[in-house]
Amino acid sequence: MEKDKRLETEINKRRTFAIISHPDAGKTTLTEKLLYLGGAIRSTGTVKSRKSAKFATSDWMEIEKQRGISVTSSVMQFSYQDHYINILDTPGHEDFSEDTYRTLLAVDSVVMIIDAAKGVEAQTKKLFKVCSDQGIPIFTFVNKMDRNGREPLELLEEIEEVLGIESYPMNWPLGMGQNFKGVYDRQLEQIEFYETKDKEQMLKLEKINNLNIEKVIGKEMFSQLHEEISLLNEAGNTYKKDAIQQGKQTPVFFGSAITSFGVPSFLDHFIRLAPPPSSRESSKGIVKPDKEIFSGFVFKIQANMNPAHRDRIAFLRVCSGKFEKGMEAWLERTNKSMKLSQGQQFFASERGNIDIAYPGDIVGLYDPGTYQIGDTLCGSKDTFSYGDLPQFSPEHFAKVRAKKALKQKHFHKGIKQLSEEGAVQVYRTAKWDETVLGVVGMLQFEIFEYRMKHEYGVEIQFDSLPHQYARWTSSEDIESKTKGSSNLLLVYDQNELPVILFENNFALRWFKDKNPDVQLRESR
Ligand code: G4P
Repeated sequence: MEKDKRLETEINKRRTFAIISHPDAGKTTLTEKLLYLGGAIRSTGTVKSRKSAKFATSDWMEIEKQRGISVTSSVMQFSYQDHYINILDTPGHEDFSEDTYRTLLAVDSVVMIIDAAKGVEAQTKKLFKVCSDQGIPIFTFVNKMDRNGREPLELLEEIEEVLGIESYPMNWPLGMGQNFKGVYDRQLEQIEFYETKDKEQMLKLEKINNLNIEKVIGKEMFSQLHEEISLLNEAGNTYKKDAIQQGKQTPVFFGSAITSFGVPSFLDHFIRLAPPPSSRESSKGIVKPDKEIFSGFVFKIQANMNPAHRDRIAFLRVCSGKFEKGMEAWLERTNKSMKLSQGQQFFASERGNIDIAYPGDIVGLYDPGTYQIGDTLCGSKDTFSYGDLPQFSPEHFAKVRAKKALKQKHFHKGIKQLSEEGAVQVYRTAKWDETVLGVVGMLQFEIFEYRMKHEYGVEIQFDSLPHQYARWTSSEDIESKTKGSSNLLLVYDQNELPVILFENNFALRWFKDKNPDVQLRESR
């Protein structure tokens, strides 16, 4: 069959990515500047205010209004230079959740922001690991160069040592803080000048020819630049496009998101280097994005954006073929067909209905309770699966029960539905059959409590547990192996798989030493 040229063209135009960073490194600021460049927002400040205004229609989102944070990650699409860019937001701070991790399974690349003064921070490390385990290409933006930070070479060294990835600086800063003059683009061999006249404005870039550099930045800075660039060229890593696309080398860009400095040139390089949607493994072999038949998987389920309806939205990442509104698709898990009539696409500021979507795009499907996280949808009866999405180890645990015994039925219904959405992980203790919840970020407990009360009418009693790590295991006599140990707790997950919760690293190591034959896995 002749390949659908239109499909191929549309795929090559897509860039789907997420931004990972530690809180306060500048994710919101950079996102906003990118949306502004793409014309998706008319002024900056929108995304910030979104933190408090976006979910004004939703009652259980009251928590987030009060706290001024966004609980659920969203998707933003904009076009730039004939490309369609999908940014998948990854929630941070206390709203850091499994959704944050799972979103990373639905992107083709990642932008990692590092605060020039702080270097690689804890949350960045965790998120980086999820990306590097999958070989996702990672682009690094070293932010806040308008402030005094650490030496650029020291930052590169830290990226390499702490994260274990080769780095290649695409540009090189000329000074920093008060003395920040701009960056030297190593590939284009030109300087982008930084001007600080108006902090909030997009600043004009004045690009000059290599030969004139000395005249403009002065002798001293020029000789320092010359020295540092020679050092990078001789002793640094060589630029390897393949390695970048395999996630083995990270191209590093220095800039200042707040002043937009370095953002347009970053986006230009990004579009050129970041891969379009690529093939994915499935239960029936490799699926190429330009396969004629539509397919995709659900990576996130979000409930009740509109409190008037008890419905949910399933976020589907399109992996192959073309999504068309009203099309028939088969759910691999049940092998049942359904009409995909209510596709929603996400724009920077609102949700709109869509008729067509291509690989790389995210479609919001109306979900009356049909979908589960990890579900594959196919455009033909001959279905296949993209596999279960991994469950990640929660870091906070609590025993929960309904305050009133009469509410048991509602309690179990609520638990079931909220765990299907991936909002919490649910276990039962091996010994007493008590319900234990596990979450990646503490805020999930608050949301859980709030939703159980407002949606299921159940007041919850929480008893937090001191455990910090969950490890899946398959050992048969695990009950006897865990018996008598006080700093661990044996539980079973919803698939009846044994999971050991450990109080601390010491308890984990102690157990491993004692039971070298027992396999322990960080995710299911
Ligand atoms: P986040 O989403 O990663 O948490 O970070 P966010 O963009 O909210 O930025 C965190 C703080 O860092 C903000 O300041 C923001 O203005 C500042 N910032 C971001 N990029 C830059 C940069 O390139 N240079 C400098 N100097 N600062 C930057 P804030 O005071 O916490 O918030 P706000 O009152 O300015 O909004």
